[in-house]
Amino acid sequence: MERYLVTAALPYANGPIHIGHLAGAYIPADIYVRFLRLNGDDVVFICGTDEHGVPITIRAEKEGKTPQEIVDYYHEVIKKSFEGMRIEFDNFSRTTREIHHKTAQEFFLKLLENGALVAKKEKGLYCPNCKIFLPDRYVEGTCPVCGADGARGDQCEKCGTWLEPFQLINPKCKICGATPEERETTHFYFKLGDYQKRLEEFVYSHDFWRPNVINYCRNWFEEGLRDRAITRDLLWGIKVPLDDEEFKSKVLYVWFEAPIGYISSTKEWAIKIGDPDRWKLYWQDKNTRIVHFIGKDNIVFHAIVFPATLMAYGDEWNLVYDIPANEFLNIEDEKISTSRNWAVWVDEYLEEFEPDPLRYYLTMIAPENSDSNFTWEGFQKHNNTELADVIGNYVNRVLTFIARNFDSKIPEYSKDDLGEYEKNLLKEEKEFFNKFYENLHNKRFKRALTEYIEFYKKLNKYFNDMKPWELVKEDKKRAGEVLAFCVKLLRDTTVMMYPFMPTTAERIWVLINELRDIKEERWDRFLDIFPEPNREIKRPKKVLFRKFADEEIKKQKEKLIQKSKEEIEKNKKYKPLKTEITIEDFQKLDIRVGKILSAEKVKGADKLLKMEVDLGFEKRTIVGGLKKYYSSEELIGKYVIVLANLKPRKLKGIESQGMLLAVVNDENISLLEPDNKDKINLGDVIG
Ligand code: 2FM
Ligand code: ZN
Repeated sequence: MERYLVTAALPYANGPIHIGHLAGAYIPADIYVRFLRLNGDDVVFICGTDEHGVPITIRAEKEGKTPQEIVDYYHEVIKKSFEGMRIEFDNFSRTTREIHHKTAQEFFLKLLENGALVAKKEKGLYCPNCKIFLPDRYVEGTCPVCGADGARGDQCEKCGTWLEPFQLINPKCKICGATPEERETTHFYFKLGDYQKRLEEFVYSHDFWRPNVINYCRNWFEEGLRDRAITRDLLWGIKVPLDDEEFKSKVLYVWFEAPIGYISSTKEWAIKIGDPDRWKLYWQDKNTRIVHFIGKDNIVFHAIVFPATLMAYGDEWNLVYDIPANEFLNIEDEKISTSRNWAVWVDEYLEEFEPDPLRYYLTMIAPENSDSNFTWEGFQKHNNTELADVIGNYVNRVLTFIARNFDSKIPEYSKDDLGEYEKNLLKEEKEFFNKFYENLHNKRFKRALTEYIEFYKKLNKYFNDMKPWELVKEDKKRAGEVLAFCVKLLRDTTVMMYPFMPTTAERIWVLINELRDIKEERWDRFLDIFPEPNREIKRPKKVLFRKFADEEIKKQKEKLIQKSKEEIEKNKKYKPLKTEITIEDFQKLDIRVGKILSAEKVKGADKLLKMEVDLGFEKRTIVGGLKKYYSSEELIGKYVIVLANLKPRKLKGIESQGMLLAVVNDENISLLEPDNKDKINLGDVIG
């Protein structure tokens, strides 16, 4: 028996979770924990919500709520989604809890005492009235670039310029309105570089880590690890535990404290089970293996920063044993995006579907080694052709047959007197299981499940080959033996199903009337168990997996597209109007109708095209950044609108004699074209 501490990344409590989160960390973590438990290992499964940092304050501002309201709300939403998906942590904590604040502050002080932190002085804005350093977003003033009022310390919303607080003209404290003053402020840096050698040894000694994890680390090491600021000017977070006035408005950087949340959550769990010191067994007894399930964007924090934090604290801590980090999941060939609302949200999914089809599909397409793609059609196909047609079908035909022909009782048979077919099938099952076990052990969940469904097909084949519907008429005893054997196979495959689809496995367990809890099964003996004859079984009242109709799937896809459109529309930012001009100003522009005669690439420039444009009275060379948007063929012969009296300028050594007018937005450039080409001539004036 081994001891494990398994963690899954703490999700930010700034929104619901989506299927990308599930595929990245939570489903694999849950499968692994269930696998370990059936192995008889001692496992604690830890998670919680990450409730500090800018992701939370930004969301609060957007929704017009306080950060506390945001995290209170989303903690519950996220917790419910996990429960609905049957991702079952031993403890699901929150980083806003006192136990975490204390633990994180203790880490800070210990690192300070051990000389792992260094204080650095920087320029900041201090409000003499509120007596705090103002974080970027708490200063407002006039934008030095566009002159707009209400520009924030980090950005001017009007013109989009990124700013430093001290660049603002006439800055004001957003809390009290006073004028802040420039003062020196201190921030603490973690001397990460001091741990580089130890970290390299540590990382490279784990040759079984996934290549993506090792490669990320190698890149960081090659760049050289540098000091990292671990405090921030923010009002929301864990206070820097120092008494000086200047630290009143400083908090620990969220990425410094969040991983410590794994420890606090384990402490909380130990208190809950009435054994407050037990957390130490997992974090400090060297026989425990710690496994962090994360998405690839979190690698550096789990493989480098957090281990370094533990090293800097002292030798008593267990460092991570494995970091199975997944790549990203796309949806319908596009990157998941919260800001564009391109996502399938778990709470919404659960309103319409059961957890297992999604657990199944996300595992079948798990982004274990490269990014993968969720499609609603793929979800439908896997559900209908595998879950319903293979698993559901088998369960249904076996149990229905027994109900009809054997009075709902497992028929008499002798496990010591099996036929050749049965013996061979058991041998195959054993071979399959050995690989299955290896794959789960090595966290190759996708492969394990793919081979599982292939093996399951053999169960249906056995049923078909034996033709019990004929056999029962000729030799009822033999038919009974076949069906009893079918139940044996059903029992075995249900145990193997449990880590992946616990809800369905438990349902089957009830149907075959197993008295013992499925959690009590063990990998080293479940195959030896043969269900006892005469035990009553139940006939499924409703299908195990319902099939998804095309209509229903189409609706889901439309919903995804529609909601994304709405979100983009909602967030659309219009560029502010420029300063007013007079008609005389406008009349200075000489705008003409032209026609493109030729278009070719410009050597050494990846965006530019060189065009010959006919203005009727003369031909011009015009260079424009159109290459990404138009092919030469599309351009040649096209009517265009040309600003003809623009002073020529050289682009990549070519003189450009004018400008083509176009609609320009963040994604595209679209050339203007005169409407009615029969009624106009080249060189006509626009005005
Ligand atoms: O990327 C994220 O969603 C982070 N909230 C993950 C934190 S994991 C751990 F370190 F707390
Ligand atoms: Zn103030």
